Amino acid sequence: MNKNYEKRFKHTAWFTNARFGMFIHWGLYAIPARGEWIRSMERISNEEYQQYFDEFNPTSYNPKKWAKLAKKAGMKYVIMTTKHHDGFCLFDSKLTEYKTTNTPAKRDLIKEYVEAFRAEGLKIGFYYSLIDWYHEDYPAYGDRIHPMRDNINYKNKKHNFSNYLEYLHGQVKELLTDYGKIDIIWFDFSYDDMAGEKWQATKLVNMVRMLQPGIIINNRLDEKANIEINDPPIYTGDFGSPEQIIPPEGIINAQGKPLPWEACITLNDNWGYKSDDNNYKSTKTIIRTLVECVSKNGNLLLNIGPDAKGNIPKKSIQILEEVGAWMSNNSDSIYNCGKSQLDKPEWGRYTASKNKIYAHIYDRGIGPVNFRNLKGKISKVRLVSDRSEIKLSDYWTTLDFPKDAFIDFASADLPNEIDTVVEITLK
Ligand code: GLC
Repeated sequence: MNKNYEKRFKHTAWFTNARFGMFIHWGLYAIPARGEWIRSMERISNEEYQQYFDEFNPTSYNPKKWAKLAKKAGMKYVIMTTKHHDGFCLFDSKLTEYKTTNTPAKRDLIKEYVEAFRAEGLKIGFYYSLIDWYHEDYPAYGDRIHPMRDNINYKNKKHNFSNYLEYLHGQVKELLTDYGKIDIIWFDFSYDDMAGEKWQATKLVNMVRMLQPGIIINNRLDEKANIEINDPPIYTGDFGSPEQIIPPEGIINAQGKPLPWEACITLNDNWGYKSDDNNYKSTKTIIRTLVECVSKNGNLLLNIGPDAKGNIPKKSIQILEEVGAWMSNNSDSIYNCGKSQLDKPEWGRYTASKNKIYAHIYDRGIGPVNFRNLKGKISKVRLVSDRSEIKLSDYWTTLDFPKDAFIDFASADLPNEIDTVVEITLK
C-alpha cells in the first residue's frame, strides 16, 4: 500500500469499524418547522428570522435520552450541528452574540450534547457550516443560495470576507479547544468559488489536526470533494460523504483500493425538523441500507431532526428502536465488517470481517439457499441472532450444482423477514 493510503487507513480505522452513526440537525429552523433551508427557500431576512431567536427555548431538551436512543440503535458515533447555514450557534461562542446562550434557552446545547453522548461511549462529531447567512461579511447579493441573493438592498452592501474567515477559523478553534476530545469534524459545504482555499482550507485543516490530532475530517471543504485521486489536496479530508445515495461500487481510489466513505441519509425527507413530513423510510429500508453501505466498505450516518421543544419525532424513535432490536442480535455482521470478496448473491448481500463471511438473506426463495462456488469450502454456518448451528444441505436437489454449497431453513419463511444473517466460517 502506498504510504498515504496506509496512513489514511490507520487514521480512520475506528470510523470504518464503527460503520453506523447518528446525524442530528437542530436549531432555530425547528420553530418554523419547514426544514433547515427555510431562510434560503423563502428569502427570510435576519430581521424576519429574529423572532425565532427571541423565543428559542427547548424545555424538553435532554441529550442523555438522545444518547441512550443512539446507543440502543447500535450507533457508535454522533455528529450534531454546531452551526448550520443560518449562522445560529448552538454553542457558547465568544465570537458572536448569535448563540443559544443568548436566547431564552440560556444553555450551551453543544456542551450538554458532548457530555451526554460521551457518557454513553459514543465518539463525538461536530457538523459546522462553512456557509453563514447571518454574518454581515458573508457574500449575499448574487450568491447562489443566500437568502438575500436577489434583494436589491444588498446589491451595494460591502462585506469583508477576511473578517468572515477569521470568524470561521476562530469558531472552529473554539469548538476543537473547549469541548475535550472531538473525533469528527463535518464541514458543509463548498460550491462555485466558495471552496478550497477560498475558506483558507489548508490553514484551517492544519489547525484542526494540530488541535485534535486524532480527528477525522469529511471532504466538503473541497469543491471537487475528490478523495479518489492520488495525493488530493490536504483539505480533501479523510472520507467521502455521499448524500441521500449509496455509491454503486462504494468509493475506491485511483488504484482501485477502497476508501473510507459515509452515506448521510434522512429518515424522512428533511434534515431539519419539518412538522408535516411523514414520508419516513421503513425500518427494513434502513437496515438494508446499513447492510448495503457495509457491503461496499462504507458507513451509514442516519439523521434525526428534533423539534423546537427538543423532542425527537416519535416515528424516528420507533424506527431507531426497531433498527436497534435487529442490531442487538446481528451487529457482528456490521461492526468491523466490510466488502466480501464473494459476488453479490441473488438473495441479498454479503458482508465480511477478517475471518468470517456474513450472508444477509432477504429472499427465502424456494428450497435450499445457494452459496455460489463455496462447495467444500465451508467449515460451519451459524444463525447470527442465536448462534444456532445451520447444517449444510446435501439434499438430492442440490446435487445438480456441484460447485455450490447450500443451507436449508426448516420454515417456508425466513427467521427474520427483513434480514436473516448467517455467519459462514471457511475452512
Ligand atoms: C446538504 C444540505 C444541508 C445538510 C447537509 C447534510 O448540504 O444543504 O442542509 O446539512 O446536506 O449532508
